[in-house]
Amino acid sequence: MRRLLVTGGAGFIGGNFVRMVLSEHPDCFVVNLDKLTYAGNLGSLADVLERANHKFVKGDICDSRLVEQIVDEHNIDAIVNFAAESHVDRSINEPKVFIETNVTGTLTLLQVARDKNLERFVQISTDEVYGALGPEGKFTEQTPLSPSSPYSASKAAADHLVRAFGHTYGVRFNITRCSNNYGPYQFPEKLIPLVINNALNDKDLPVYGDGLQVRDWLYVYDHCTAVWKVLTEAPPGEIYNIGGCSEKTNLEVAKLILDRLGKPHSLIKHVTDRPGHDRRYAIDASKIINQLNWAPSVTFEQGLKKTIDWYRDNHQWLANVVSAEYRSFYDTWYSGR
Ligand code: NAD
Ligand code: TYD
Repeated sequence: MRRLLVTGGAGFIGGNFVRMVLSEHPDCFVVNLDKLTYAGNLGSLADVLERANHKFVKGDICDSRLVEQIVDEHNIDAIVNFAAESHVDRSINEPKVFIETNVTGTLTLLQVARDKNLERFVQISTDEVYGALGPEGKFTEQTPLSPSSPYSASKAAADHLVRAFGHTYGVRFNITRCSNNYGPYQFPEKLIPLVINNALNDKDLPVYGDGLQVRDWLYVYDHCTAVWKVLTEAPPGEIYNIGGCSEKTNLEVAKLILDRLGKPHSLIKHVTDRPGHDRRYAIDASKIINQLNWAPSVTFEQGLKKTIDWYRDNHQWLANVVSAEYRSFYDTWYSGR
């Protein structure tokens, strides 16, 4: 039996990971530690919250006493750290909390992993730590880190700390660097759920700049299966890129969503670009594909269809998470662009 501490498990990817583990690996026990920021919602866990092998704890990953207490009380053998401030646009407005959670929070977890000699520490990182690509090439695990935004700089700092704890104290770690995730339960500040939400409400879709920036899109369930493989099969100290083999421009994504919803392309509105906007991300995922025999289970078109259908069928979830705080962020960020 594995006894996991999953952090950020009331957020988008962490919540999908917790659901997958509880459903597909019922011999695991999961403690889910989440601060429930604007991005964390217990409504995303409604179907699994009361499972006997799941315990939710509201708290901060920067609280070392709480983390130690959880590890001791539940005999935890591995930490999977999803908890983060995750939105690039918010990091441009208010970088400090990104340092607190993404850097100091990761440090706090690492110290506990070291002191309690845990079997594994898995850090969920991002391809954004590599910076931006030109029209050619892909990120490999050897690409030097060159983050562009306060968000990606905080994630790169955390990656360095994780490696340093492995090197200096022998913490058995892995780092995963994935591309842009999409799928059920994603907070509507990110491109795909924002476009779906706005299109469903016949609102304009704000596309930054010329909309020709490229992202690689990874269906969240496929990301979760990759993290599980890393946790259970990877040798310690290894770093893995995880990608969906689906590069698209933002305009292509917006048009595919409008077409599926039967809405006009005239809803697309080009707005002032994001400061420091990375032009292109692309992932070479051959290491995890070859070494751990992982592969994405859906194409982008299949995953996007599932995602749009999920948002259409779960408008109450969407209505519940769109708080006054989100409306105020949206108005401030997008007005006058
Ligand atoms: P999210 O914003 O949806 O969820 C983050 C969760 O962390 C929330 O539930 C929030 O309440 C919790 N949290 C925030 N600060 C905390 C703290 N101090 N203590 C405890 N909990 C805290 O994020 P996500 O999209 O699910 O991303 C999960 C991880 O994956 C992050 O580390 C992110 O950097 C990484 N990532 C995300 C993407 C993506 O496309 N979403 C891509 C690459 C990497
Ligand atoms: P986002 O979902 O914020 O992820 P990231 O910045 O981490 O890649 O944005 C994905 C792409 O969509 C990125 O190129 C910025 C762009 N974008 C828009 O054009 N308009 C928007 O309103 C948002 C939120 C993003």
